[in-house]
Order: sequence, then structure tokens, then C-alpha cells
Amino acid sequence: MVDKYAVIGNPIAHSKSPLIHRAFAAQTGDDISYEAILAPLDGFEATVRELIAQGYKGANVTVPFKFEAFHLCDSLSTRAKTAGAGAVNTLVNINGSIHGDNTDGVGLRNDIEQNLDFEIANKHILILGAGGAAHGILNSLIGASSITIANRTYERALELVMALRNCEAKASTFEALERPYDLIINATSAGLSDTVLPIPNIIFGENCLAYDMMYGRETPFMKQAREAGAQVADGLGMLVEQAAEAFQIWRGVRPNTLPVIAMLSTLIGKY
Ligand code: ATR
Repeated sequence: MVDKYAVIGNPIAHSKSPLIHRAFAAQTGDDISYEAILAPLDGFEATVRELIAQGYKGANVTVPFKFEAFHLCDSLSTRAKTAGAGAVNTLVNINGSIHGDNTDGVGLRNDIEQNLDFEIANKHILILGAGGAAHGILNSLIGASSITIANRTYERALELVMALRNCEAKASTFEALERPYDLIINATSAGLSDTVLPIPNIIFGENCLAYDMMYGRETPFMKQAREAGAQVADGLGMLVEQAAEAFQIWRGVRPNTLPVIAMLSTLIGKY
């Protein structure tokens, strides 16, 4: 029988996860189905219970349910426990018991280190944003020389710094940034509305990698970074890498991500 998987979110129609996982399965020869499921905003738990009743082996969780998923799990991986405020993006059905993991951080790290060939160790890192996306990636930045979290609302950056359990970071406003960084990760959702962040050009250090967790188009952050001479990347690689990690958890086999990233880049189009 085909093993069933899904991604649960709201909205979900835009999700590339079915494409990605079906491409992985075609590559590894795994006999799976993978679909996108829209859960009502107040119906995440009911949706998960229904999928378990139907024998689904696992699911990915996306906006806005990652925090709720954390609380629903019967057991959690260490990295899910240490991910900021407690967020889960991968569920595994173990005989009706729900195990939760978070593959966002490792997905980002693998994209940066393996695909973009940029070492995180000993680098000065700046994270822009202190919401869910920032929470999910901080546990993957172990080994950095320093981490600074800058946010529009300073108090949220401060809260995130205090909540960190396995690394140390400093909080800042955008306006107070005044030194160069080696790696800058835009984890704000400002790009969705084409908002220009009030960040000075000095933050783009020599050989700086500017990474936007969004994908599909050039955000004002990416444009500014490009014009300031930084190497620029979007979040498409991270999307595929976090999926590969989930696929490995479920199937015990690691798919090759590069052809899937290439396929999606073509599909989405260059900008
Ligand atoms: P997500 O899960 O995508 O991280 P979120 O938890 O709502 O969503 O967080 C959104 C992040 O983007 C926050 O850091 C937010 O800043 P605030 O904490 O000040 O709200 C940031 N953000 C969203 N729109 C922004 C904008 N127009 N300018 C600057 N920062 C913005």
C-alpha cells in the first residue's frame, strides 16, 4: 500500500512541498503519496487526528500551525525542543503517537554550507526579524562568532535573545546597526509587502552573504544587498533542504536536493 504524507497549513494552495516530495520519491523509488491539506484556523488538531485515523505516516506543518504542532506532539526531537519558542514543522506517526521535529534550522544550514559553500563557524551573523521564522533557525547557527538579532519591535528581539537555550545573541533595533557582518539572514516578512527595511549599508561586510528566507522574487532586502556588493541568496534552497531532512526522517533515505532546487528555480522563474 502507498504510504501517505501531507503538508498542513492555512493558506496552503501556494505550497511547493507536494512537488518537492513527489520529486524526491520519484528519485528514491519510494511509493508514497503527498498532498497539501488546508486546515481551518481553529481546526489544526482535528485535522492531524483525522490524518492519523486515515493511516497517514507523517506530515509537514507550515504557517500558522508550527507552534500549535509543538504542543500537540507526544514526543519531540532535541532540535524541536531547542527551536526558539517551540515550533515543529515535521510530524511522524509512530503507531498513533505523534513525534515532532523541526528541520527548518538544519535546512537553512545545509543550504548555506553545502549549496552556497559558505561556512557558518566563526562568522558574525545578523538576523533580521524576531518572529516565527527567526525562532526556527537560531538553533542551527552553533559555532558562529556572534549572533545579533535586529527587529522593528526591539522588545521581541530581546524576548528571543532571552529564550535562547543553546546559543548567545544580542538584541538590536535596525537603526542601531553600525558594524559589518559576514552573514545576514532576513527572517522578516517585510518582503511580502515590498517594505524597505531601515538598515544601513555598512552591515554588508566584505564577502558578505545576504540570505532572504523568502523565495520567488527579489525582495527590497535582496536588492539593497546586491547593490551593496554582497552575495545574495533566496530561501528556495532552504525550502528543499528542510524537506529533504523530513523525507529522510520518514523514509530513512536522503534524496539528492540539487536537481529538485534546479527544477523549482526553472518553474518559479528567474528574477
Ligand atoms: P513569521 O512566522 O513569518 O516570522 P511573524 O511571527 O509574524 O511571522 O514575524 C514577522 C517578522 O517580520 C517580525 O520580526 C516582524 O517585526 P515585528 O516583530 O516588529 O512585528 C517583521 N516584519 C513584518 N513586517 C515588517 C515590516 N514591514 N517592517 C519590518 N519588519 C517587519
